Amino acid sequence: MTRVLAASRIATLLGSFDRDPAYKGLAEGLRVLITDGRVPVGARLPSERELTEAVAVSRTTVTRAYAELRDHGFLVSRQGSGSVASLPANRGHLVDHVLHPGTLDEGQIDLTVAAPAPGPGVLAAYERATEQLPAYLAGSGYFPCGLRVFREAVAATYDARGLPTDPEQIMVVPGAQAGVAITARALLSIGDRALVESPTYPNAIATLTHSGARLVGVDVPPDAAARTPDVDGLVTTLGQVAPRVAYLIPDFHNPTGALMTDEHRVQVARALKRTRTTAIVDESMVALALDGQQMPAPFASYSPTAISVGSLSKPFWGGLRLGWLRLPHDRLDAFFRARLSLDLGCPVLEQLVGVNLLEDSEHLLEHRRAQLRTSRDGALRAVATHLPEWQVARPSGGLNLWCELPRALSSALVPHAVGHGVRLAPGPAFAPEGGLDRFVRIPYTQPHHVLTEAIARLADAWREAIGDPGQRQSGTPTLVA
Ligand SMILES: Cc1ncc(COP(=O)(O)O)c(C=O)c1O
Repeated sequence: MTRVLAASRIATLLGSFDRDPAYKGLAEGLRVLITDGRVPVGARLPSERELTEAVAVSRTTVTRAYAELRDHGFLVSRQGSGSVASLPANRGHLVDHVLHPGTLDEGQIDLTVAAPAPGPGVLAAYERATEQLPAYLAGSGYFPCGLRVFREAVAATYDARGLPTDPEQIMVVPGAQAGVAITARALLSIGDRALVESPTYPNAIATLTHSGARLVGVDVPPDAAARTPDVDGLVTTLGQVAPRVAYLIPDFHNPTGALMTDEHRVQVARALKRTRTTAIVDESMVALALDGQQMPAPFASYSPTAISVGSLSKPFWGGLRLGWLRLPHDRLDAFFRARLSLDLGCPVLEQLVGVNLLEDSEHLLEHRRAQLRTSRDGALRAVATHLPEWQVARPSGGLNLWCELPRALSSALVPHAVGHGVRLAPGPAFAPEGGLDRFVRIPYTQPHHVLTEAIARLADAWREAIGDPGQRQSGTPTLVA
């Protein structure tokens, strides 16, 4: 089913555009919307007549703008579907979505993965867990849904957030990514539609795609302060597409950092109910509120059919490989079967570590948040100093800056960045249907002096990419400690 973008929506997204000549300005505005993914590839643009009225130009202007976009591959005409947004070959093309944590050459800085080093409590939690382990050594060690004590500890975190949860509803999984994969296995059949926000977490794009689902991306733009997302497009697209599942990151979205308000959660939950869509709610970042703000209620308290996905990776350490699903009671059997066809449970020791971490979480999380605040603020200062032409809002939580470049050069920037010793994921990696080449994600998960150096190097790479000779004379990159 082709999505249709209303002329009024396009007019809002376009805002004002250069009218000298108007057809060029209109074509350029639409081209930017398509390459950014705000007009998703595959969506139908309004008819020439509708757009003429909505943006107050002549019909000839719209005809010429559409013709220009068609000539350059940003629009294709499909029989019965009108003018459909497209991307020319090799521009913000679909990329390998999986972000791979990998080995680095000496002195390289990796900005492809948003995962902090373990906080101070992790080693102590392992030590306590080793003392607790003997109590489990008499049995087989297989706990396909997880250790009872860990499920209870996780259920208590939902109780504390105002969502009463029975430990039976918790299935322990090897991280949030595995949780999404198990959910896809339980809920999706080949050809089902899966709605995802654009941008979104690349590995979830890969998982849902590999499950055989047809992905539908929807732009959920954060407001100028990156605080809250605009959910109008999400609600409309749900109504138009009626997908089987919607993968959402309402709590400090990766990569934009936006936090969905309670009001918006209500609206989205209503739309999901109308279309009988199950939300897969990735709460990996929920514990990372950096500005001391009051958190909205968990999404599942508005949408009782939702599958919530949680993880210890971001608040504590990715090396634990420990996450969970919070399931509605009537899904427990189906998920149990889906899970057993993949693996038979998580390591006992790590679950005991998880219990110890959750017991002490308030204190440990305070430390983690303080670390991240320093890194976030340092990274923002470094961008403002070295790359003042990039636009970046201050996220109120999560792990990432989502930077908007003045030109669609994110993919072109990546090889230059590598030349300067920085590994970077280009914007299109976060785009389910292509586009977003005007964006770059900078995770602030490393110490702030490392980030400052990385961003200074990125500035050199950027000037190289845009052909500006006024570079910093950095010589061989060095990294302090
Ligand atoms: C939104 C989101 N979901 C899932 C993951 C993967 O987490 P885990 O290590 O728990 O599999 C990440 C990691 O960056 C993430 O940002």
